[in-house]
Amino acid sequence: MKVAVVEGDGIGKEVVSAALKVLDALSLDIEEVPVEIGYGKWKRTGKAITEDDFDIFESCDCIFFGAITTPPDPDYKSVLVRIRQKFDLYANIRPIKGMGVGENIDFTIVRENTEGMYSGVEQVFPDAVHSTRVITRRGSERIAEYACSLARGKRLTIVHKANILKSCRLFRDVCIGVADRHKILWEDMLVDAVAHRLVLDPERFELIVTTNLFGDILSDMAAALIGGLGLCASANIGEDYALFEPVHGSAPDIAGKGLANPVAAILSLAMMLKWFGRVEESDAVHDAVSRVLAGGITTPDLGGRYSTAEVAEAVAAAIEKEQAT
Ligand code: NAD
Ligand code: IPM
Ligand code: MN
Repeated sequence: MKVAVVEGDGIGKEVVSAALKVLDALSLDIEEVPVEIGYGKWKRTGKAITEDDFDIFESCDCIFFGAITTPPDPDYKSVLVRIRQKFDLYANIRPIKGMGVGENIDFTIVRENTEGMYSGVEQVFPDAVHSTRVITRRGSERIAEYACSLARGKRLTIVHKANILKSCRLFRDVCIGVADRHKILWEDMLVDAVAHRLVLDPERFELIVTTNLFGDILSDMAAALIGGLGLCASANIGEDYALFEPVHGSAPDIAGKGLANPVAAILSLAMMLKWFGRVEESDAVHDAVSRVLAGGITTPDLGGRYSTAEVAEAVAAAIEKEQAT
């Protein structure tokens, strides 16, 4: 297995190096290929990513990604969005599971990851800008199929704004068709109502499928219900390539201080291991994280006094202890 490792900027660097300590504890045969992209590189070279970087990504099986800061450049095109589109990573999977805070919350957001408001189709006029929301039948079909493959008896909530947007009507209708075909229990709900219900009654949700920007917003909101962005992992999945990353960004407000919670990055590694078929190791990482958090070894965002590195070391030690028994 060959993994391109992008630390990125801000806390990306801290949480990635912390998570790699956990990977080390598993003693797997994984080659790590460091790749520098992001704001730091843009400041140094004028480019946030190059064709050579894309070539390195292509030579690897997948990418493990920290976070990057958006450079203050009016012409900047998001590097992360470009990677998602280039490798056609159409399914963004974001599990939301309480581990202490919001203990009974357990659902997954399946976010379409290549189109919608992120289509990149934009027209700039002197006094107006048109950002085109592209929703296709094919894009909706495949994300609905992916969501249905995760259902296993769970109720699927199809999230849209079909009362206003014709693009959402297509998305909703295609999702309903796919769910019916697979005989999956579904409901559909307007995105504003979902935001409201998520705050009032998050435990009712089991599996959500939605469009790109709605999924982006709802996942940060959902993170707040279970203790914050420091706990939320994600997998960006395509046909034969994937990128694993915490849901959070580079958090410049806490960067460089050892305050960042590494759990989101560590659980993103666990998602990577599962994708590689190393289910036992993935479960071992999850179990170790649960034990460490239950033991009160946490960063300050969860009320603890431990640093990023100390939490990761505790997770690595918990894995090693389990392996020794
Ligand atoms: P953010 O996710 O970086 O931070 C939001 C808040 O959550 C901050 O208060 C931060 O301190 C806190 N937080 C985030 N991760 C945490 C962690 N692991 N532990 C403890 N606290 C944590 O969002 P932002 O501040 O809006 O964005 C900062 C930069 O990151 C921007 O340039 C944005 O474009 C970029 N961004 C990048 C990614 C990515 O690379 N995947 C994702 C989101 C935002
Ligand atoms: C995320 C981020 C990204 C998004 C940005 C950095 C492009 O917020 O992964 O949630 O909007 O998808
Ligand atoms: Mn986001």
